[in-house]
Amino acid sequence: MRMRAAVLEEFGQPLVVQEIDLEEPKTGEVLVRLVACGVCHTDMYTASGVDPSGYAPAVLGHEGAGVVEAVGEGVDSLRVGDHVVTLFSPQCRECEHCLSPRTNICLAIRDQQGKGYLPDGTTRLSRDGEPIRHFMGTSTFAEYTVMPAIALAKVSPEAPLDRACLFACGLSTGLGAAMYTAKVEAGTTCVVFGAGMVGLGAVAGCRLQGADRIVCVDLSQERLQMARHQGATDVMIGGADTVEAILEMTGGFGADHTIEATGLVGVMRQAVESARMGWGLATMCGVAGKGETIAIIPRLLITGRRVAGSSFGGVKGRDQVPQLVQRYLDGDIDVDAFLSHRLTLDEVNEGFDLMHAQDGIRSVIEFA
Ligand SMILES: NC(=O)c1ccc[n+]([C@@H]2O[C@H](COP(=O)([O-])OP(=O)(O)OC[C@H]3O[C@@H](n4cnc5c(N)ncnc54)[C@H](O)[C@@H]3O)[C@@H](O)[C@H]2O)c1
Ligand SMILES: [Zn+2]
Ligand SMILES: [Zn+2]
Repeated sequence: MRMRAAVLEEFGQPLVVQEIDLEEPKTGEVLVRLVACGVCHTDMYTASGVDPSGYAPAVLGHEGAGVVEAVGEGVDSLRVGDHVVTLFSPQCRECEHCLSPRTNICLAIRDQQGKGYLPDGTTRLSRDGEPIRHFMGTSTFAEYTVMPAIALAKVSPEAPLDRACLFACGLSTGLGAAMYTAKVEAGTTCVVFGAGMVGLGAVAGCRLQGADRIVCVDLSQERLQMARHQGATDVMIGGADTVEAILEMTGGFGADHTIEATGLVGVMRQAVESARMGWGLATMCGVAGKGETIAIIPRLLITGRRVAGSSFGGVKGRDQVPQLVQRYLDGDIDVDAFLSHRLTLDEVNEGFDLMHAQDGIRSVIEFA
């Protein structure tokens, strides 16, 4: 079939919206008609050419939500008409990692996905017979996508898809970092560094876990205001004296949980240093620049602080994204507050400009 998609043609150049070809789903695959798609940093990072693993031409986009239009052979988990959220982090339910409760990092299709192919090593995207690669296994800056069924979470049809799409990446990452990676306990003190989509999600996750005190640190007063709305009990502007300020707030000990959502290694260090002696857990969500490292004084670890990393918030996508969406429908998470701008597919590059200017939390592309 023919469809419109935003293609990364050349690194550092705007995406080019154009008509391309999409093949029908093969065994284990599903055709999804996209209804909405968020614009995320990872799309911009890859488009800029800074990402060393990037490739072109490719159809970017990974925060998608839509409706199943057709299923390939052997797909029994989804039916035509189902509402789905795309998962760049799939869940096959069979590999060693999927069978373990300790991780959400599925091993089933990693190699091919990383190279821009569907699990059988080919693409469904092309132009004049020349293949175009998939991105993050999702390629949702397009009217339609073909994806493995193991990378689609079936969500309640009651959830508006322009908000459900935010659960495809940043929001679930933040919520999950608090709920599934850190497993924040009721009554604890938590510090969240960063109040973008991920940090605000983490604030909400700490609240849902029953944290007593939630401190959010960011550079923007406006974003800190949003953090209060999501449940932060204290907010502060970040800087060189942040660790000192947090130690002061916690009787000199530090916080039970710190969650980093900035991507800055200097802030990651602060997250470790402001975690509590004895048991403080510092959870890293941010994606740092290639080659960057975190400096940690070993004594901080010997005296009981721990460090964890969280990919997609530790969320096992097919099982837990529907649960998180349900909590939104139950009124536990104000997702509307994150949807800052609505764009058409043709305006996708504006989404990058808005993100660059830190204008709003998320721009969402809506497909007519
Ligand atoms: N682990 C994952 O699976 C995953 C998924 C999505 C995003 N991410 C990463 O998470 C990070 C956050 O994503 P986002 O969409 O929320 O980004 P964002 O840019 O919207 O938010 C980052 C926030 O950090 C704040 N900040 C900057 N310097 C700071 C400082 N010194 N102290 C405190 N706050 C500071 C900024 O003001 C901004 O509000 C990025 O690195 C992103 O790549 C990771
Ligand atoms: Zn798996
Ligand atoms: Zn993302």
